[in-house]
Amino acid sequence: MSTSKNTKIAVIGGDGTGPEVAAEAIKVLEAVASLEGFGYELEHLDFGGERYLRTGETLPEGAMDDLRRVDAIFLGAVGHPDVPPGILEKGLLLELRFQLDQYINLRPVKLFPGVETPLAGKGPDDIDFVVVRENTEDMYCGTGGFLKKGTPDEVAIQSAVYTRKGCERCIRWAFEYTRRRDRGKMLTLVAKTNVLTFGHDLWWRTFQEVATEYPDIKPDYNHVDACCMWMVKNPEYFDVIVTTNMFGDIITDLAGILQGGMGVAAGGNLNPDPGGTSMFEPMGGSAPKYTGQNVINPIAAINAMAMLLEHTGHDSAATRVMSAVTHVTGTKMKSQAAGRMGYSTTQIGDLVVEALNQ
Ligand code: IPM
Ligand code: MN
Repeated sequence: MSTSKNTKIAVIGGDGTGPEVAAEAIKVLEAVASLEGFGYELEHLDFGGERYLRTGETLPEGAMDDLRRVDAIFLGAVGHPDVPPGILEKGLLLELRFQLDQYINLRPVKLFPGVETPLAGKGPDDIDFVVVRENTEDMYCGTGGFLKKGTPDEVAIQSAVYTRKGCERCIRWAFEYTRRRDRGKMLTLVAKTNVLTFGHDLWWRTFQEVATEYPDIKPDYNHVDACCMWMVKNPEYFDVIVTTNMFGDIITDLAGILQGGMGVAAGGNLNPDPGGTSMFEPMGGSAPKYTGQNVINPIAAINAMAMLLEHTGHDSAATRVMSAVTHVTGTKMKSQAAGRMGYSTTQIGDLVVEALNQ
């Protein structure tokens, strides 16, 4: 992507603490852009629970077309205590992922120096892997329904949909990513082929076929239950994991706590195709109980901004932000937990900005 023009970023602060952490990420963006000498334009969008309660809409008409034209989207958080579960998640977050065909959910799991992990005896050298989660299919596709709802004979069906195209493009992207990554050159497929003998058989066969195109990458397999056990017992085993949407959702919360928690973990919803729009977000959610208190950890949002910078061609800016974050987590912060950081949300943003100059 060209860096000679301004990078256009749509910002959806969203719900709860989303806008607070997004503000710190933008503070860091502003500072690093001036140090590195590139221009950017922000378009702030008020999508989220408050707008939904006011207007009844999650994504207004035409919004998707506007979003297709930006270079990247930055999302704070989705989830509002006064909105029933599913409405914002499906109407906003999943709608964006699906409509923009962001078929990769990239979730790096890296323990920064000085950050506490709940795993005894494990450090930054041991916890450094990446989860590539398929992001458009599986149980997330919303296929299903009720029969005889509300009666004693009720039936509920929720289908997992897997397509050859959907798993192949994700698996192929994961092999390419593993090749670029400077670690063990091993890609682990995480699935449940012993029970999901249709859907995950398709994933398994596709994985085996694509693997023949990458003789430099070691293809590996874990059942999802065993993967959870190994992630806790021997996290150093993993290099890159590729997995289905629902399993990817679950194992990345487990992985998130290994790297210091939801205050640190960030992800990218990528559409890697030419002209595709990708979206970057902290994994933490809207944390309603901490809203407006200036106590939430903005590091995950700042990490998400670093991923956005890398994705939009600002590699040296991304590296600079990551080393500033490493400095702040390693030498300043007492904890990565909300309210126990030793600093406020805005102070952490300031510390990262300060560290950009080192
Ligand atoms: C995530 C979240 C979402 C998901 C929810 C909010 C729909 O948990 O990004 O991991 O399940 O994908
Ligand atoms: Mn999740």
